[in-house]
Amino acid sequence: MTSPLLAKVSVAVLLFTVLVHLQLEAQTQAKKSAAQGEEVFGRQIKARVDKLLKQMTVEEKIGQMMQYFQLTPDTTAAEERARKGQVGSYLFVTDPAAINRLQRAAVDGSRLKIPLIFGFDVIHGWCTIFPVPIAMAASWDPKLVEQAQTVAAKEARAAGIQWTFAPMVDIARDARWGRIVEGAGEDPFLGSAIAQAQVRGFQGTRIGEPERLIATVKHFAAYGAAEGGRDYDATYVPDVLLWNVYFPPYKAAIDAGAGSVMSAYQDLNDVPATGNTFLLQDVLRKMWKFDGLVVSDAASVFNLTTHGFARDANDAAYRALKAGVDMEMAFPELNIPANPQMGLKEPIIMPGLHTYDVALQSLLKSGKITEADLDARVRPLLTAKMKLGLFDNPYIDEARVESVLAAPAHRELARTAAQRSMLLLKNEGDLLPLSKSTRSIAVIGTLADSAKDILGSWVFAPAKLEQTVTVLQGIMNKAPSASVTFVRGAQIKRPFPSPVEPPQPPLPDQSQAELQQEIDAAVAAAKQADIAIVVLGERQNMSGEAASRSSLQLPGEQERMLKAVAAVGKPVVVLLLSGRPLDITWASANVPAILQCWYPGSEGGNAVADVLFGDSNPGAKLPFTWPRSAGQAPLYYAHNLTQEPETKKNFKSRYWDDSSFPLYPFGYGLSYSRFEFSNLRLDRTEISVGGQIRASIDVQNVSDRAGDEVVQLYTHQRAGSASRPVRELKGFERITLSPGEKRTVTFTLGRKELEFWSPQTKEWVVEPEQFDIWIGGDSKASAHAEFRIVRTD
Ligand code: NOJ
Repeated sequence: MTSPLLAKVSVAVLLFTVLVHLQLEAQTQAKKSAAQGEEVFGRQIKARVDKLLKQMTVEEKIGQMMQYFQLTPDTTAAEERARKGQVGSYLFVTDPAAINRLQRAAVDGSRLKIPLIFGFDVIHGWCTIFPVPIAMAASWDPKLVEQAQTVAAKEARAAGIQWTFAPMVDIARDARWGRIVEGAGEDPFLGSAIAQAQVRGFQGTRIGEPERLIATVKHFAAYGAAEGGRDYDATYVPDVLLWNVYFPPYKAAIDAGAGSVMSAYQDLNDVPATGNTFLLQDVLRKMWKFDGLVVSDAASVFNLTTHGFARDANDAAYRALKAGVDMEMAFPELNIPANPQMGLKEPIIMPGLHTYDVALQSLLKSGKITEADLDARVRPLLTAKMKLGLFDNPYIDEARVESVLAAPAHRELARTAAQRSMLLLKNEGDLLPLSKSTRSIAVIGTLADSAKDILGSWVFAPAKLEQTVTVLQGIMNKAPSASVTFVRGAQIKRPFPSPVEPPQPPLPDQSQAELQQEIDAAVAAAKQADIAIVVLGERQNMSGEAASRSSLQLPGEQERMLKAVAAVGKPVVVLLLSGRPLDITWASANVPAILQCWYPGSEGGNAVADVLFGDSNPGAKLPFTWPRSAGQAPLYYAHNLTQEPETKKNFKSRYWDDSSFPLYPFGYGLSYSRFEFSNLRLDRTEISVGGQIRASIDVQNVSDRAGDEVVQLYTHQRAGSASRPVRELKGFERITLSPGEKRTVTFTLGRKELEFWSPQTKEWVVEPEQFDIWIGGDSKASAHAEFRIVRTD
């Protein structure tokens, strides 16, 4: 006989099952109708584009293919160009009123009333600045990355921007390269996850979602492999690295729906990316089925001539068009008057760098290209504008902009993002967190007091310096009753200005006597204080575009200053502001606590203080391998085994003058909590080619403080048609555990994680071989298991 309780339970289970089923059914239906809706929408847009194309003259088509920088507030000439239908897009206009003005010229003043699309490098925020991209990647938290770019999109869109030139997904394995700050580091798996999160954040689920932007995956492709780490230099990347390492993040971003792609500046295997048919046609459009719009990098069509690739501007335009560049990012003629106070000693007078506007006409006349070639390039541009709704809603509400930018939730998220990207490199004797009752603190280092520098590169007018929280301010906010002494210390300065920064007043030079005075003051402050917080690193313009270095040393006399302060004998905490790993070999051996703060953004100072004083527990992990010095570059964890493996008995180094091991490994980062990994297990030990395997591990917080661990899974294929890297990241999850809490984390490995592009077969393969798995808190993880892939056919 069934008991009434059992009967009730059975009914409840039945009801639950039915409900779940109904819900799933409803979800499937909703997805189906959304897909159908998309299809109808797509067809309608195609019809509108076709109709419009028929009405357009050749001049109007070419006009749509032009994108110009607008760098001055005077928009008279730019408006005139828009009225004549000679431009499809402007970039770098940040004033909402100017955007509306230009849009009016295009919509009310041009024959076909085609709206402009406004582009900008919204890289890590618009007005609210988030940590720089490498820092966001260090959070190993794709959800957070998505949220941050959602806010960035919302602010920028409110101000009139519809198109961002981000994410930059170039893999960087050489820290001398300045643009390492703009990407997600050295690893294709992490890079792909972060790339997709950014696209989702910028665009939402489809192009045209309200308050979102079109994302641009850049720089296609392999721009980060610049020889010697020198920005813009040629790259030589064999197929095996292109497919297995450099391409995956671009592909991932495109799979996530990225609406545009930017062609890179550099030569890839001797063919400049902007005229590279293999990249832009064979891979991008044919293999990956990308149907969005391709924009050149700034003047990179014209610069096909400076590469010694194209004969002249006509030839450059021809090659870019044939390769598939839809829009030319171009410079108009520039005449910016000198302004010595702003560091501009001479006027900038530059001839325009543009080709399509003139060259395409003559190429048509000579029969080298046809109007169908033009249509193929204009179609994605018009489609993007239509999907964005610009034809129906071209203007912005200027009165609304400030209220969107001022949303407190944006600042809160910026603070959370900064906290979650703080990376604890060293914490000897648990020096951190500091007690809030610390009575006196010496804060040393000019970066501690610099709003501009805490924001990082790619930050322009919309960001408000006066609302930026510096490290010094953050510490004073957090410990209001402590006596805080600030000493500026050693000067940090680029010997020549950055060519990609707006002109600014030059920094004064520091004489040897002044430097000594500052160091003496720093020593005196440390002597008086309970603790010395030394803020070191690079200014924001030392990292980013055209900011490569030949050395990774702390610029200027910062290390000398640090040594003097450390010699005082008080506890020292080093805070690093940088977008790349710096040579901190001395500090790592001699200073008890080091926190990598990156360029943490508008709320950076508060977040630094949150971590310093324990209101936030650091949990970020390195998205790159931290070298000891520039001489080790390129350095990355996923290198191959060799005839002399490093695990061999008595192996010391590949160099005789230094270690060839990194200072800190990929995936590394400490917490105020301690975690233990145990019981790594697999759900089987053999799978078939194309099958799946699940790996689980128990992670326990064995400390009395809640904290985050990033659980990382690495694989290694022991033999096969090609040598495979010693370890490759194939899974990760950032988890929060309360004191004592134990949780099981499970990863599934399938074809996607186990395949690679084989240089022998020249295709993607899953090979029946023996595999290792490691799971742990960094790329040195020791918990190990193994399995085999077997052929079943
Ligand atoms: C050049 C840079 O390489 C690219 O990343 C950027 O988007 C464009 N300039 C536009 O600012």
